Amino acid sequence: MDKKIKRIGVLTSGGDSPGMNAAVRAVVRSAISFGIECVGIRRGWQGLITSDFVALDGAAVGHVLDRGGTMLYTARSEEFMTEKGRKKALATCKMLGLDAIVAIGGDGTFRGAQAFSRMGMPVVGIPATIDNDIGCTNYTIGFDTACNTAIECIDKLRDTMQSHERCSVVEVMGRNAGFLALYVGISVGATAVLVPERELDFEKDVVERIRNARLAGNTHFMVVVAEGAGSAVEIGKQIHEAIGIEPRVTVLGHIQRGGSPNARDRETATRMGYFAVKALSQGRYDLVITTRDGGIVATPIEEAMQMKKSLQMDRYEVLEAVGISVAH
Ligand code: F6P
Repeated sequence: MDKKIKRIGVLTSGGDSPGMNAAVRAVVRSAISFGIECVGIRRGWQGLITSDFVALDGAAVGHVLDRGGTMLYTARSEEFMTEKGRKKALATCKMLGLDAIVAIGGDGTFRGAQAFSRMGMPVVGIPATIDNDIGCTNYTIGFDTACNTAIECIDKLRDTMQSHERCSVVEVMGRNAGFLALYVGISVGATAVLVPERELDFEKDVVERIRNARLAGNTHFMVVVAEGAGSAVEIGKQIHEAIGIEPRVTVLGHIQRGGSPNARDRETATRMGYFAVKALSQGRYDLVITTRDGGIVATPIEEAMQMKKSLQMDRYEVLEAVGISVAH
């Protein structure tokens, strides 16, 4: 790997997340500091296929650090998942003289990056998704901001649930993972937390939890459901059928994807963007920039894509110990 990197492309792909702009800014500013030119590719991998790009200098990424969303737009590209599409993208890289691509996004983005690297295009991935479900990294950009958004919403719900002595069922994002639901569930003191990683025993993990809370004197109840574990509307109906109370259902949805990135996401995104470009300046590529044990580690992409991450059992024990159930 001794290719001299002189010009790079940077793109954001998949579901957006708060902090993507901070990562783009860090990539552009770091590239300038290493004497590398930077081109922004719009609309994810599709932008390489359609030659949708914008030259980026230091000023172009001013005033974006605190902005949610992505200034480069994002999209999911079915075409790029085909070899024909990737060959079109490769032709654009050749035309523009791009020596490497920095791809900011989730696991779908990394699958595309891995396929592109296997065609000989140097890549570096930066993990950004509110799901925090990428196996090679402890943390993905946007997760903490999204958790805090959900927590703020649920704290507001708790006020009215308390006043009316009601049960609230709240559906949070996470696609097929329960990291967001679990983290938020602990943080709001939920009565029950349902995650896709554990098969639901409705009687034990929902009905009994609400009954025990009631017997302990509580008159309002909070059930957090990861979208991959089921529909909050259905869970609400089942609760109504089982114990007669009529829950109020809230699906937080895409609110969790917006908002100004918080300190953790701004700082993590900035460090990741810097280390991505530093590696390229040293002629190192086909990497994913990951966090492990609090540090930033550049992991070879072929190794990174094999790595798995499961729900943290210590959080499960905490939930049990403090009287919150996580569906078994
Ligand atoms: O992957 C991030 C995510 O927000 C998931 O949590 C969610 O299920 C999905 O994206 C929603 O995708 P879209 O924005 O395409 O509806």
